[in-house]
Amino acid sequence: MSHDVKKLPVLDASCYSMCMDILEVIRNRSTAKSFDGRPVDTKVMDRILEAARLAPSAKNRQAWRFVAVGKEDSKKVLREACYGDERMMNAGYVVAACTTNIRYTMPNGQPSHPLDLAFAVSFMCLQAEHEGLGTAILGTYDERTVKDLLTVPHAMQVVLLLAVGHRTDEPGFQERLPSDRVISYDHW
Ligand SMILES: Cc1cc2nc3c(=O)[nH]c(=O)nc-3n(C[C@H](O)[C@H](O)[C@H](O)COP(=O)(O)O)c2cc1C
Repeated sequence: MSHDVKKLPVLDASCYSMCMDILEVIRNRSTAKSFDGRPVDTKVMDRILEAARLAPSAKNRQAWRFVAVGKEDSKKVLREACYGDERMMNAGYVVAACTTNIRYTMPNGQPSHPLDLAFAVSFMCLQAEHEGLGTAILGTYDERTVKDLLTVPHAMQVVLLLAVGHRTDEPGFQERLPSDRVISYDHW
């Protein structure tokens, strides 16, 4: 059966609330531009980290470690590592998504570790959104400073940082390309 994406139904709000809970969470998530500095409940943070632990990874290797940073002093260092990004200070936690092995390349030629970590960070973003918290994914930091702070072994990498907190900015949707530009069935 082939699908014409142009004919996909537009889902109205009632449909989302009844049957599209996950898609609704996905649609509502956006990058937080600022946080208010309030702490994040540790039980909530545990659930967000649990979402990372349960994420899929190539061959289920789980070659990862998630370091949640909540101490003020450490967050100050992260702010420096992120070139002054105040979200590091005002997030409740900043999670360093680290790889413990970068040697596995999948049969398709792609290295698995950035993908594995991206899935884990995505899952954390969605759980945080579901918990009513904001997130910001960051690839803009000096990795050496982060590694020194968190005592990450030399051979490991910090692939992404994820700030989690109570956002102060208005959640906003950044436009995406239309479905007929990025999705097709059966051929390019
Ligand atoms: C791999 C990756 C790295 C990113 N790095 C940064 C970053 O360093 N700083 C930042 O402010 N946002 C960063 N972002 C957030 C993106 O800019 C953002 O997701 C994109 O503009 C879409 O906006 P939205 O998240 O609000 O939907 C990153 C996102 C991804 C997926």
